[in-house]
Order: sequence, then structure tokens, then C-alpha cells
Amino acid sequence: MEELKVLFTPEEIRKRVEELALKIENDFPEDPLVLIGILKGSFIFLADLVRALKRKTLEIDFIRVKSYGYSDTSSGEVIITKDIEIPLDGKNVILVEDIVDTGITIDFLLKHLSLHKPKSIKICAFINKLERREVEVSLDYVGFTVEGGFLVGYGLDYAERYRHLPGVYEVLKK
Ligand code: IMP
Ligand code: MG
Repeated sequence: MEELKVLFTPEEIRKRVEELALKIENDFPEDPLVLIGILKGSFIFLADLVRALKRKTLEIDFIRVKSYGYSDTSSGEVIITKDIEIPLDGKNVILVEDIVDTGITIDFLLKHLSLHKPKSIKICAFINKLERREVEVSLDYVGFTVEGGFLVGYGLDYAERYRHLPGVYEVLKK
């Protein structure tokens, strides 16, 4: 069994998510706004974020990608296994990701979603992990920034485990 070290507590996360929601609300007071969650990792972050947004209307969609490579790294090849289902043309879109690591997934999805002609696309990442970045991506909203390490909890998994944990932990021994 892996050893886990607490990085962010549920209380710290709740505060930070509220701050992000406030920023998003200030930036996009007008409709239409669409939040797109990248499955599966973003499901808890997205659920908390949308409930912290103080607005009456909002659209939510999901996209799912698979990247080839080792279990905990991307290889550079990304394929979409479930695409978005609602139209994006003329809408402000926020792409919601659990953690940005190499940047390859976000870079790929930005290009893919641009084809749908949205009015704007912003990136909201719960965690920005710096040490393995390969592609420059500009992140508009970031929950927490870390240098490295393999993190789990709050949607993030290690071989499909630990997604349900309400805090974020670093896996010390795999
Ligand atoms: P990127 O294309 O390298 O930026 O890949 C990001 C994806 O890799 C995330 O959506 C996660 O699925 C996965 N990933 C990267 N680092 C971690 C981590 O520390 N914990 C859990 N998943 C991670
Ligand atoms: Mg992911």
C-alpha cells in the first residue's frame, strides 16, 4: 500500500475553490458560459466549482481523453474517447482540468475545442504541476501550484484509486 502525505486539506481546497469561482464570476458576468470538465479527474473539482458560482445560468459538458504511455505520465499521443455534446459557437468556454503536468492534454484540447468556434476559451486547472512541463500552456485560473510529485485525491487517482479522498495527498512510496 502506498504512503500518502497531506498536501491540501478539504478546508484549504474549499477556500481556494471559492476564490476561483469569484474570479470567474467577475470575468464572465454575462451569459453564455460553458464549463467543460475533462474526465475523469476533474469531476469533483468541477462539481464544487459550479456550485460556488453565483449565477443563474451556466452550461456544463464533459470530454474524455486517453493518453498513451506509462500509467502516470503522458506520452504525447492524446485521443478523445468521449467528445462534447453541446454547441460552443459564440460562447465563453472554460476548460476544467484536475492537474496540468506536461501540458500535452490541455494543448491538444485547446486546439480541438477551437474548431467549435467559441467566443473565448480559458483554462481552469485545479493543480499546476511544473517540473515536467513540455508544452507552454497559459493557465487562466489555477487552484494550487506544485513543483512535482505524484498527487492523489479530490478526483486525482493512482491506478484508479484515491479519487474519492476529500483532500489532496502526495504519494510517497509507489
Ligand atoms: P499532461 O498531458 O501531462 O498535462 O497530463 C495531465 C494528466 O495526467 C492529468 O489529467 C492526469 O490525468 C495525469 N496526471 C499527471 N500528473 C498527475 C498526478 O500527480 N496525479 C494524478 N494524475 C496525474
Ligand atoms: Mg486527467
